[in-house]
Amino acid sequence: MDSNLLKVTIDGRSIEVPPGTTILQAARMIGEHYPPAMCYYTPLKESGGKCRVCLVRVAQTSEANPRPMPKLVASCLTRVENGMVVENESSPEVLEARHGVVEFLLINHPLDCPVCDQAGECDLQNLAFEHGTEQTRYEEGRREFDKIDIGDKIQLHMTRCILCYRCVFTADQITNERVHGVLNRGDAAEIGTYIKHAIENDFSGNIVDVCPVGALTDKTYRFKQRVWFSKPFNAHRSCDKCCGEVVLWIKNNDVIRVTARKNKFGEVEKFICNDCRYDHKNLEDWVIGEAAEIERDSVIRANKYKTKIHSPAVQVDAKFVSE
Ligand code: SF4
Ligand code: FES
Repeated sequence: MDSNLLKVTIDGRSIEVPPGTTILQAARMIGEHYPPAMCYYTPLKESGGKCRVCLVRVAQTSEANPRPMPKLVASCLTRVENGMVVENESSPEVLEARHGVVEFLLINHPLDCPVCDQAGECDLQNLAFEHGTEQTRYEEGRREFDKIDIGDKIQLHMTRCILCYRCVFTADQITNERVHGVLNRGDAAEIGTYIKHAIENDFSGNIVDVCPVGALTDKTYRFKQRVWFSKPFNAHRSCDKCCGEVVLWIKNNDVIRVTARKNKFGEVEKFICNDCRYDHKNLEDWVIGEAAEIERDSVIRANKYKTKIHSPAVQVDAKFVSE
């Protein structure tokens, strides 16, 4: 073993990782069964620690300190120590806590999946499917907000927001000026009114991509299509503002939406500019590549289809085949 590496065992599987690695990152390195994350987002500094869905049990703190940690800890913030033993899915206590967190997140989140554009690629929908309960015990009044137009391209449904702060960090870290944030605290917390100005920025559309739920939606795509009826293709173009590498969501040879590409953790690695996202919705604008691999569990990934791209790369036809 490299003396600089730290050994951690998660649900019986061990891995050696560099100092500074968090439990969540180590679990992702091991493979499929990593804790869910609704607020942590690798490219965004200081993200994490807000939603608590990534809680795990540390059964042994380290080789030098074999005692368990007294409470469940947020795996996205807790760093690995040498000899640490962690329980994720193997702990009934963790699974029960996750049930509780989902129940809390759904207290104010409306169950409007049938009319929400995020349905089919919503982290909360997936989380509720795996860890939710059939009924709520909540009987109090729920928070209500009017929808807010953030310029002409983005709409905020504050009732769906889970206050993960991802959009705030995105605006803070990849745009020139952040003009929105979380105002107030506790039950009164909301994404702030100054968000209207964020639309001025060339990269403001990225807050839609990082939002884990349907709180921030692309107005140019609203109600156009259920996402699983469109076909995602990787495409690129030469752009002087961003990498120009996107996913085109195509229906009947029309580009109905342009998004950044996400990895298997649902995270954008290369943010894209608003020109690519909103102003290039013709197939002729893009060099179209392979059908995009949607690696995360989702209804889109459930659709296995073959693609035919006719030359020149302007006509795209995707044909579903049964497994
Ligand atoms: S609007 Fe979306 S990204 Fe922003 S804090 Fe709410 S849930 Fe998170
Ligand atoms: S992902 Fe760890 S607290 Fe949200």
